[in-house]
Amino acid sequence: MGAWRDMEKAVAQGKVRSIGLSNFESDRLEEVCEAAAIKPAALQVKCHPYYQQNDLKKRLAPYGTVIESWYPIGHGDAGLINEPVFTGLAKKYGKTNVQIILRWHIQAGNVIFPKSTNPQHIRDNFDIFDFALTAEEMDKIAALDCGKRFYHATLEEQERELAGPEDCIECGACTACCPEKIAVKDLVRELAMQQCQHRSRPAYVSALR
Ligand SMILES: NC(=O)c1ccc[n+]([C@@H]2O[C@H](COP(=O)([O-])OP(=O)(O)OC[C@H]3O[C@@H](n4cnc5c(N)ncnc54)[C@H](OP(=O)(O)O)[C@@H]3O)[C@@H](O)[C@H]2O)c1
Repeated sequence: MGAWRDMEKAVAQGKVRSIGLSNFESDRLEEVCEAAAIKPAALQVKCHPYYQQNDLKKRLAPYGTVIESWYPIGHGDAGLINEPVFTGLAKKYGKTNVQIILRWHIQAGNVIFPKSTNPQHIRDNFDIFDFALTAEEMDKIAALDCGKRFYHATLEEQERELAGPEDCIECGACTACCPEKIAVKDLVRELAMQQCQHRSRPAYVSALR
């Protein structure tokens, strides 16, 4: 709870407006939410039409916490995007399949942050507020929920990707190895591996700082 209390302090000090959780779906979720003086505004988790997180939503409802979807369009998975239900609705509303998916998220109460490097897609992704899916259409999309995920990293792989700073337990090389906090992870990793002769896992983790 220490980290959460510190984030609550940041709200009290006016440094941030809202605080939330990410990838925290364990059975300790309720423990944190109950103890929190400021309830999480959002819980960021994977969520898309194949993985709708309905059970998690029920757990969050008492705290007023909303789901913030990562992979909202299934990481761009063509099988998901081209589901016939989206193609049919896209024709009906004069929208793209992705716009239908994003509109479904909004009506399902999800916060979304689709990612795109394509300027037209970025414009399209904002252009979803001039139509509404009917209750029956929402039900059809709800029927796609099948527990399919698109992210399968092991816990160890996730730790390597997300871990915070840590020096090599042997030589401490990594505090010095990325003083400029180079943003490109692979470059930082390579640098750390060169500088830490022990090639230890902490050095690798440190490189992701
Ligand atoms: N908290 C976490 O643990 C976590 C985990 C994973 C991801 N995330 C975050 O979630 C966000 C989204 O993740 P994501 O980018 O992997 O998945 P995503 O938003 O579901 O999918 C992105 C893919 O969809 C395509 N796309 C976007 N808009 C489109 C459109 N209008 N029409 C057709 N294709 C479209 C993009 O291609 P184009 O570039 O060609 O448009 C890209 O290939 C990112 O900011 C990511 O950092 C967070």
